[in-house]
Amino acid sequence: MKVSVSPGHNINGTLILPLFEGTDSLLAAHEEGLHTALKSQINRVLQDGDFKAKLKSTMSILGCEGGKAMLVGLGKEADADIHAYRKAGATVIANRKKAHGTELTARFSNASIEAMGAFAEGMLLRDYSFDHYKQQDEDEEKEGDIDLRITCDEGQESDLTSIINIHTGVASGVHLSRDLGNRPPNDMYPEAFADQAWEWAKQYDNVKVTIINYAQAVKAGMGGLVAVGMGSARKPCMVIFELNKDKKGRAPMLVGKGITFDTGGISLKPGANMDEMKYDMGGSATVFGTMQALASTGFTGKVNAITCMAENMPSSNAQRPGDVIKTLSGKTIEVLNTDAEGRLVLSDGLWKAGEFDPEYIIDFATLTGACVVALGHEATGLWSNDDDFRTRIHEAGNAVDELAWPMPLLPAFEKEMTNSKIADTRNLGAGRYGGANTAAAFLKQFVPNRNYEKDGEQIPWAHMDIAGTYWGAKTNSMVGHGATGIHVRTMSHLITNG
Ligand code: BES
Ligand code: ZN
Ligand code: ZN
Repeated sequence: MKVSVSPGHNINGTLILPLFEGTDSLLAAHEEGLHTALKSQINRVLQDGDFKAKLKSTMSILGCEGGKAMLVGLGKEADADIHAYRKAGATVIANRKKAHGTELTARFSNASIEAMGAFAEGMLLRDYSFDHYKQQDEDEEKEGDIDLRITCDEGQESDLTSIINIHTGVASGVHLSRDLGNRPPNDMYPEAFADQAWEWAKQYDNVKVTIINYAQAVKAGMGGLVAVGMGSARKPCMVIFELNKDKKGRAPMLVGKGITFDTGGISLKPGANMDEMKYDMGGSATVFGTMQALASTGFTGKVNAITCMAENMPSSNAQRPGDVIKTLSGKTIEVLNTDAEGRLVLSDGLWKAGEFDPEYIIDFATLTGACVVALGHEATGLWSNDDDFRTRIHEAGNAVDELAWPMPLLPAFEKEMTNSKIADTRNLGAGRYGGANTAAAFLKQFVPNRNYEKDGEQIPWAHMDIAGTYWGAKTNSMVGHGATGIHVRTMSHLITNG
């Protein structure tokens, strides 16, 4: 989709007309250059109350002597914040067949440039499909790329253009994340992810990607990553992303769980819906997508990221329940369930993060079914060792309408996880209850102190469990189905707004 901005009243293709509830006739600003037949038809529909402009509603109007329009509901004017505009924009794409063509001109009345930008953002985000694996049916008409023009007032052009450029770049990050999450696991395995990151980095002078391969991971002592990945013919690896690495000072560090397929390993999962476990690399997809969002929008600050890639398979080379492994931190873990593998790979990723002396660390992981039980598909679980930091992330999520809900990190949960008779810690709680919290408490043990000092303070850290929000979000109007690409926008917002 291409978006351009220009003052003036020309209408190319279909007119997209966002309206508030209660609008019973077109305003003068709407009418400029509008075909008379189309104008009277729209006015009739509004007067008769046939189109109520409820949020997420649309109506398509064809003028009898030419001219096409799509009325788009914004809901009540008093409630029309940028989230409403974003949703309304997404609705246009969800109903794109009703727009009659690919050339669209959006005309607003009384909207701020942020609101117009959000409308375009909603369109950009929703304009996504994952159909690379389908043969094109010869009879099927290809939908074609949308060419959207937004008309604005003189003087708004340059600010609106910059806002739209940012939304375009961030949406490309969301779509990259979704592509990675939707890709079938026979094509999206650890090395494939690493290769893609390597190729991707070539387009940016200020990005460096480093791959720690299997042999190097073994040599370095990444016992968590190795234990999880060694059961698969597709060997594990760690991918490190560095944006603007020459900049001085501390930088954010993002860490991703990247299980390209989670069978559960020897603690095999039940068969139903196991195919969905291809999205168990959603954390790494979030991280990669965020790097794309930042790099493509020309962000000049320093940001680092680590993705822990492995495929969790049962085989004669796989780890067993009962194994004790030694992680990069030196801490040993008694593996009581091989399906609790995300925390094992993250133990090495989090510890490795300390090498970068980061400002803070945020990890993203489709970590627990228990988090889906707790929060459904509506909110990401959010834990942190720093209350203010947790609040900042929660607020960044609210700013972009990606809800992350505060959850407790309690010493009791940590105690439950360290209760191993033969190792320093264990990867399973005492029972099912509080499973998302015990997982978070487990991770906390691997968050390094500043400069790895024994008695120093822990680096500010947050954990985001996206098991419920990275997939199957029914009420998220930016997404049709499949991988959601959640939190690329939250992170772009948090990082670029300091
Ligand atoms: N990848 C799963 C978590 C998951 C479940 C993600 C549902 C998305 C949807 C994770 O590796 C896992 O299997 N966790 C176990 C942990 C348990 C064995 C302590 C779980 O949640 O059951
Ligand atoms: Zn698992
Ligand atoms: Zn998993």
